[in-house]
Amino acid sequence: MNQKVIAIDGPSASGKGTVAARVAAALGWAYLDSGALYRLTALYAKNQGIAWNNENEVAQLAASLPVEFIGQTILLNQQDVSQAIRAEHIGMGASAVAKLPAVRTALLQRQRDFLTHQGLVCDGRDMGSVVFPQAALKIFLTASPEIRAERRAKQLNIPLESAEFQHILADIQARDEADQNRSVAPLRQFPDAELLDTSDLSIEEAVKKVLDWYSKKSKTQV
Ligand code: CDP
Ligand code: CDP
Repeated sequence: MNQKVIAIDGPSASGKGTVAARVAAALGWAYLDSGALYRLTALYAKNQGIAWNNENEVAQLAASLPVEFIGQTILLNQQDVSQAIRAEHIGMGASAVAKLPAVRTALLQRQRDFLTHQGLVCDGRDMGSVVFPQAALKIFLTASPEIRAERRAKQLNIPLESAEFQHILADIQARDEADQNRSVAPLRQFPDAELLDTSDLSIEEAVKKVLDWYSKKSKTQV
């Protein structure tokens, strides 16, 4: 049986979070930013002096993350880390801890617990393939690496002609490579997911497309 879930997977800075949050608001559903859990695990390990490749210890941290989500604010050990987890090096750390099977297992149930009776929109790398394989609608959201780097740079107020921009582009490409080629829960477009390339789409157009797909799916499934 299908779950009342819209699963949006895709590479970094493709617009997953923005689109997923708006779709959730439009439907009145809950929203899960699964990447935040991997980022929180990486930051927590760093703060505790635990190496990102130490599978057992990082998995123990992931299983017991002292985290609270209060609206847009994320508290780790009662400290506001909403900004700190968005740093590019924490993104790389998230990608490093996300390769470890024990860490993924530790975070699995925590992610599933976000589903409420209203419904859930979630975004990440394996929402449709592993966490919610029965999702009513699965989307692979993407855009070219250059456009994604430009979007990230704009978010961070970094000029496109700067060396820092080249750094962002290189980080995005390195993270794509790591996420696509790992052995557990690799990022890829599965045959049951709709492809949504946002390279030439505004946020509003992308949100509309997702809502239209869901509306069509829910009609055919009644
Ligand atoms: O915001 P951005 O797309 O750059 O990254 P994110 O969604 O916050 O995820 C950070 C990292 O966590 C990704 O590069 C993945 O390696 C990992 N991740 C994952 O493995 N599985 C997920 N469901 C979500 C994130
Ligand atoms: O969650 P993910 O890392 O995939 O991306 P995001 O943080 O939601 O989006 C990255 C940036 O791209 C944000 O500033 C969005 O406003 C912007 N964006 C855009 O300009 N056009 C789109 N169609 C989608 C996102």
